[in-house]
Amino acid sequence: MKLNNTKPFYFGAATSSFQVEGGANLGGKTDSIWDEFTRRNYYIPQEGSTEREINYIDVSSDFYHNYKQDIARMKEMGLTMFRFSIAWARIFPKNEHDVNLEGVKFYHDVIDELIKNGIEPLVTLFHWDVPVWVQCRNGFLNRETTDLFEKYAQVVFREYGQKVKYFLTFNEMVIFNKNQFIWGSLTPEYKNRSDLMAKSMHYCHVACAKAVNVFKTLRSQGIVSKSSLIGITHTDGPVFHGYEGDLEAQVHENLIGNLAYFKPSFDGEYPNELFKLWNKVGIDVDIRDEDLMLLKNNTHEFIGWNYYQPMFVKKTNKFGVSSDIFGWNETKIPSEYKTTKWNWIISPELMVESLRDFSKNYPHLPIIITENGYGDFDDEIDGKIYDVDRINYIKDHLDGCYTAINDYDINLIGYNYWSFQDIFSPSAGYRKRYGFVKVDFDSLVRTNKLSYYYYQSVINDPSHDSDYDIETIKKNFEQSFKDGK
Ligand code: BG6
Repeated sequence: MKLNNTKPFYFGAATSSFQVEGGANLGGKTDSIWDEFTRRNYYIPQEGSTEREINYIDVSSDFYHNYKQDIARMKEMGLTMFRFSIAWARIFPKNEHDVNLEGVKFYHDVIDELIKNGIEPLVTLFHWDVPVWVQCRNGFLNRETTDLFEKYAQVVFREYGQKVKYFLTFNEMVIFNKNQFIWGSLTPEYKNRSDLMAKSMHYCHVACAKAVNVFKTLRSQGIVSKSSLIGITHTDGPVFHGYEGDLEAQVHENLIGNLAYFKPSFDGEYPNELFKLWNKVGIDVDIRDEDLMLLKNNTHEFIGWNYYQPMFVKKTNKFGVSSDIFGWNETKIPSEYKTTKWNWIISPELMVESLRDFSKNYPHLPIIITENGYGDFDDEIDGKIYDVDRINYIKDHLDGCYTAINDYDINLIGYNYWSFQDIFSPSAGYRKRYGFVKVDFDSLVRTNKLSYYYYQSVINDPSHDSDYDIETIKKNFEQSFKDGK
């Protein structure tokens, strides 16, 4: 399919700092909760298993030392956008007073390098990596963290606000909080604590609103560029029931997983239904009038959306009877859907459905797909990765984007594949690979996969035709292999 679009469309790729950079002690960075958690829970399952793997992230792909060669590879591929996050623990390694100039310089260097190579930086302020010193003060369960985050946001906007056009406050607030308070899979490792999840979510929203306020103030003063925008990345939807009698489960999931996030960020208010639900189950959140005012006056300006899979839900026998509102539903995989090896449902069609919903609810806001990707074991043949499944996944999702733009006139302005190179995966460590570029995690040598040449061909074709001729792509791939890329 071709992209019939006269407006610019970014073809990007994405990463986050804790997953790609190599972490602690580089550029003055101190530990984040991910450094701390992964060291304490190190666990490698059997070869080929899809169980959660947890490894050290001290080095990862070491983007920190390799960003110049990585960006050169992005340019060669033709990327026009690169999404990455800034590590809060590198800007403020010890406390809220001492800014680390070496860390500040690192991100200037990365941003300058991207711009020099014609790649638009898309900068996330927070991708789940709370500095340990902030967590020691109870992280996002402490109202004070909203002020610490505001201070951090001040520095980021003042430093990079003239160079960066698109900022995101948070990545996937819902998954960050589920990891910490529902699944117990990240520090402080609480399980099934919907009450703590609600409290933390509220402080996360307040922190974002404070950051938006700073952003807009600095922009009105000309410190941030007049053309820069502030967005936020959410995920979790779309939710379906698909089964007789489970509509209630769908409505519930949509409320606690989508509306509780989208509405405060883009409408500046919580859905009333959420207050009713909290009341019913006795969840008491410290929401003050001034918080509601802050949310109302500081909405985000574009929608960042991470889409991997839709969610199909059905009630559990706990539905409606406990304060663990995240335990009311269970997810399931309808048999008609294909999945990845980690059982993530593949459905570009339902991605389009959601984009239509966003555009109906927020016609005035541009949308950027900030993540979409295919995790695989990436078996090799003679040292080469022929990742045709990944190519088909991307093709189908790009077609979904094109349908959204061509047929429904949706203001979708970019697609960022997750991820540019192989990095640490929170749910499956280093064995779940997403990249266009293989990283050997021992030698750190980078090697392009077949999918690299697919995406390159789509970007460089003026009509961005997503169809492909496998023989031509293979020829380019094999030639480049001979050339040592
Ligand atoms: C998103 C996150 O939830 O999904 C990324 O923003 C993450 O950080 C991606 O890597 C894929 O998840 P996973 O666990 O398969 O790596």
